[in-house]
Amino acid sequence: MGIQIAPSILSADFANLESEVDRLGDADLVHVDVMDNHFVPNLTLGLPVVEAILARTERRVDCHLMIDEPDRWAAGYAEAGAHNVTFHAEAAAAPVRLARELRRHGARAGVGLKPATPVEQFEDLLPEIDMLLVMTVEPGFGGQRFLDVCLPKIRRARELVTRSGMDIWIQVDGGVSDETIERCADAGADVFVAGSAVYGAEDAAAAVEDLRRLAAGHA
Ligand code: DX5
Ligand code: ZN
Repeated sequence: MGIQIAPSILSADFANLESEVDRLGDADLVHVDVMDNHFVPNLTLGLPVVEAILARTERRVDCHLMIDEPDRWAAGYAEAGAHNVTFHAEAAAAPVRLARELRRHGARAGVGLKPATPVEQFEDLLPEIDMLLVMTVEPGFGGQRFLDVCLPKIRRARELVTRSGMDIWIQVDGGVSDETIERCADAGADVFVAGSAVYGAEDAAAAVEDLRRLAAGHA
């Protein structure tokens, strides 16, 4: 699939989500951060808002569920029509069953890893998933500083995926900007979430293209 840029609407104007999603130019995905104030210390939005976004855009929606009990809630996002649904490894009780359920509903299944969660223990899960999300900040807030300590894990994730021979995307999320995206691409990431780097820019669509160009130079 190659390089994909996924702006995160966490840094958008929540009162104007339709126009905020419209102004993303050639972005490949729209990343939507669902937070429940349990899995992370922040509360954002849930299924009704995701459904409203899906009804107003042709763009592919990438749901990042930072919630407890994804086994109970994640399928609803797939049923609603999300392109990707990512649940957190730390929160899922039965990740194989859940990933299969997401795929059955027509979504790509993603597994997210917090900075301290090792990737190796998920090697056997790879045939069941379509994306690994390597968090490069502690999940919960936009605008945090990129954690370099996560770079070796991106590399190891890429090695596992290459060895598997499967078409599994490796997404990075947290602190991705024009200063850090090249390191992520070098390490093997191919899907780049950026919140503040896109919505904090004067021209969001131009920021998406800048990020894409930088990543492509290091793919
Ligand atoms: C953080 C979220 C991110 C957030 C990234 O927990 O998962 O998707 O929007 O924001 P930036 O790009 O500003 O770090
Ligand atoms: Zn996210």
